[in-house]
Order: sequence, then structure tokens, then C-alpha cells
Amino acid sequence: MGGLCLVSLLLPLASALDFGYHHTEEMEAFLKAVSKNHSSITHLYSIGQSVQGKAGRDLWVLALGRFPTQHRIGIPEFKYVANMHGDEAVGRELLLHLIDLLVTSDQHDPVITRLIDSTRIHILPSMNPDGFEATKEFDCFPPFGRNNANFEDLNRNFPDVFDKNNATIQPETRAVMDWLKNEMFVLSANLHGGALVASYPFDNGYLGEITLQGNSKTVDDDVFVHLARTYANNHATMSQGGSCHNVEDFPGGITNGYAWYRLLGGMQDYNYIWYIKQVHLGVKGRVLDKNENPIPGAIVEVSGRQHVCPYRTRENGEYYLLLLPGTYILNATITGSVSLLHEVHIPNTTANFSAQKLDFIFPDEKLGRLELTSCPEVPLYSPNYYKNTSTALKPCINFLILIHGLYVAFR
Ligand SMILES: *[C@@H]1O[C@H](CO)[C@@H](O)[C@H](O)[C@H]1NC(C)=O
Ligand SMILES: *[C@@H]1O[C@H](CO)[C@@H](O)[C@H](O)[C@H]1NC(C)=O
Ligand SMILES: *[C@@H]1O[C@H](CO)[C@@H](O)[C@H](O)[C@H]1NC(C)=O
Ligand SMILES: *[C@@H]1O[C@H](CO)[C@@H](O)[C@H](O)[C@H]1NC(C)=O
Ligand SMILES: *[C@@H]1O[C@H](CO)[C@@H](O)[C@H](O)[C@H]1NC(C)=O
Ligand SMILES: *[C@@H]1O[C@H](CO)[C@@H](O)[C@H](O)[C@H]1NC(C)=O
Ligand SMILES: [Zn+2]
Repeated sequence: MGGLCLVSLLLPLASALDFGYHHTEEMEAFLKAVSKNHSSITHLYSIGQSVQGKAGRDLWVLALGRFPTQHRIGIPEFKYVANMHGDEAVGRELLLHLIDLLVTSDQHDPVITRLIDSTRIHILPSMNPDGFEATKEFDCFPPFGRNNANFEDLNRNFPDVFDKNNATIQPETRAVMDWLKNEMFVLSANLHGGALVASYPFDNGYLGEITLQGNSKTVDDDVFVHLARTYANNHATMSQGGSCHNVEDFPGGITNGYAWYRLLGGMQDYNYIWYIKQVHLGVKGRVLDKNENPIPGAIVEVSGRQHVCPYRTRENGEYYLLLLPGTYILNATITGSVSLLHEVHIPNTTANFSAQKLDFIFPDEKLGRLELTSCPEVPLYSPNYYKNTSTALKPCINFLILIHGLYVAFR
């Protein structure tokens, strides 16, 4: 009786979603119902179709925020992607429950209300719906499901910054690549299954530059380590991984049960929210001319942390840099003017749901635009280039989270 009470207290009020796996049609119906019932804070859009898209498989993204349909200056964009491997299905359900939690807590829970006020959160619960549908429950090594319907592993399908990737780009991959082009994501996370770890870039590396610990570091390594720790420290079970191989070693299926419980707890746990809050760590602002017109094509970087392929401001002149608290020199560069350097002190403002604000105002009469060259062709890093240059890609800081799932999984 007491146990039942506890469980019911943990469930969100008015939850419209049951705790089980949902087929793609059920997921779609849920997303459509959420966007209909909560139309003022949600916007449902499709970024493309899967290989079996003709069977009606759209890659649905639900955006949540006070202004869900478009970017607003000063509001960072965040994204969560799950189920890239079709057989890693827990993340998909987690994100559906996260959606449920966010929409039902808005205007009730002060933290979630502020999060929705200050952030635009994009959620793609399933990047590989075809793989999900092909998967059979409790298969340890399912022959189908991890890959998409063309038998391609989507987590091996993106252009690689270190090596030439010969794989044919799949519709799902292309959809995500186009999505990244169109939205300016400041922070992202990717949910996988099978182990419990928050993993951060790089996944690949140039052998000559791998550190003694076997790390392939980016210039944003401190930020990544912090983000990974934030996630892991707030996750009660991250130290208790389990794999499909020893499922039988857990008496009475307690592992699966526990994982299932964590699915409930995980979604309602503020850790996910807190984590999302990290998008407000660092500094943000605009690059403007003296008449306060935004300057597109400007590069803003931390002195000493130059990126191979730096992010350039768009039409609204906005930039975001994720940085740990501390003092930094920021360097804004446009053509036809000397770079502007500003010292910035970054307090820990995540609790205030806003990064430190700093605008750059170029005083020049005539301003040239930086040529909007695209990133160099991959691979970006020849061994020499890597040796002499700090290495990271902007603006999207991406993350991989492996969560405890029912299925065996690999990154
Ligand atoms: C949408 O609203 C209807 C009517 O109130 C309700 O029955 C349904 O559970 C809601 N669905 C979601 C996903 O919010
Ligand atoms: C990709 O193709 C090139 C040229 O055919 C080849 O040299 C290279 O080894 C291939 N890379 C991989 C990872 O298979
Ligand atoms: C500022 O950035 C520009 C362009 O990347 C670079 O040439 C210059 O050396 C940088 N200055 C400092 C102090 O980092
Ligand atoms: C910022 O402060 C919060 C507590 O308000 C803490 O949990 C978090 O780890 C801090 N972040 C950094 C980067 O120190
Ligand atoms: C957070 O906001 C409060 C109230 O607006 C302000 O007093 C405080 O200084 C802010 N904290 C930081 C670290 O900016
Ligand atoms: C890298 O640095 C070394 C010495 O510091 C220099 O000889 C070499 O030309 C540089 N390579 C590139 C690609 O800039
Ligand atoms: Zn995976």
C-alpha cells in the first residue's frame, strides 16, 4: 500500500503517456496530441523521412518553448536526439516522458516554467524509426534494428572530421545534417542505450595527438568534462551499468525492473532539466555596428581557443559560447576592421537561466563582411593541421549519453 502510494506520487499529474514502448504510429499520435493540447508552447515539425518514409515514417521533432515556432534573440536552442540505433529504445521513451513532463509542468513547476521561458528545446525521440520497428524485444544481439532499413549504422554515417567516410549518406543522416544547418543549436545530447556513461568528443582522433589517457581532446575539453560530470553526478545509477550479457546474472530480472524504474525516475528527475540548464553556462551576445545593426558573418572566439571551423554569426549577429566560470578574453573578428578584444568575467549563472551577456560594437564607419566560406571539406584535420591548431567545431556542442536499457547496445 505504502509502496503504491509512493509510486503514484512519483508519476506526473495528468500523464497522458503510459510506461511502455510505443510503436511509431503511437509515438506520432502522442506527439500530435501533445502539440494540439499544448499548442502555445509546442511546435511539431518533421525534418525528413526515414528510408521507409513512404510508409509514413516521418522524423518528428517537437520544439518546446515560450516561442516554439521560431528562434528569438537571446534564447538558446537545445536539442535531444534518441533512438539513432533502432534497438536502443529507452532513450526514445525517456524523451517522450520528458515531453510529457515539460508540457504538464509548465506554469506549475517554477523551474520548468523558467526553462521553457528561457530555452527552446528540440526533441527528436527517434532518429531511426525503421530500426525500432525491426527490433525484437529481448534479443541480445538483434540482427536487425540497430541499423536503418538500408543496413547502415547511422552513428557511422556522418562526415568525419578526421578520416574520409565512404559510407553513403542515408536519408535519416541527411535530414539531421540539414536540420543542423537550419537551426543554431548551442548544446545537444544524444541518447544511446546499453551502458551508463556520458561521453564527449572526440570519438575519432589523430593518433599522434592522443593523450596518455587515450583522450582525443577538443579545445572545449573543460566544458565537456564539466557537462559529462554534471550529468553523471546527477544520475543516481550511472555507476551501476549492466549489459545484455549478464542480464541473467541479475536475480529475478531486477536489472530490467530497475532500469524500468529509472526510466520513470529519470524522466521526472530534475537532472535532465538541470542538464538542459547547462545551455545557460557561459556568454552570449550580439555583434553590432555603431548604429546597432547586427553584423552577420562575424567570428567570436575565446582567445587561445581558435576553432578550425569557427561559428559565424547569422543575420541577427548572435553568438553563444559555452564556457566554465572564469575570466576570458573574447575576440570578435570581421573583415575590414581590427579584431575587438573584450575581457569577460563569467560567473556561474546557470541558476539564473541566462548566460552572461556581452555585445561587441564595431565603431568603424564602413564594415566589410567576412566571407561566408563554408567549412573546409572533410577531413578537416591533416596531421600537421591538428598539431598546430586547436581543434573543435562550432557551434554545436554535442554529447553522447549511454543509458541503461533493456537492449544490448554499442555506441
Ligand atoms: C489531449 O487532451 C485530451 C482531451 O483532454 C486528452 O484525453 C489526451 O490525453 C491529451 N493527450 C495528450 C498527449 O496530452
Ligand atoms: C575510403 O575510400 C578510399 C578511396 O577508395 C580508401 O583509400 C579509404 O581507405 C576508404 N576508407 C575507409 C575508411 O574505408
Ligand atoms: C583574434 O582572432 C583573429 C581571427 O581569428 C586572429 O587573427 C587574432 O590573432 C586573434 N587575436 C587574439 C588576441 O587572439
Ligand atoms: C553552478 O552552480 C550550480 C549550483 O547552483 C552547480 O550545481 C554547478 O555545478 C555550477 N557550475 C559550475 C560550472 O561550476
Ligand atoms: C542571478 O539573478 C539574481 C536576481 O536577478 C541576481 O541578484 C544575481 O546576481 C544573479 N546571479 C548571477 C550569478 O548573475
Ligand atoms: C606546424 O608547426 C611547425 C613548427 O611549429 C611548422 O614547421 C609547420 O609548418 C606547421 N604546420 C602547419 C600546417 O602550419
Ligand atoms: Zn547507440
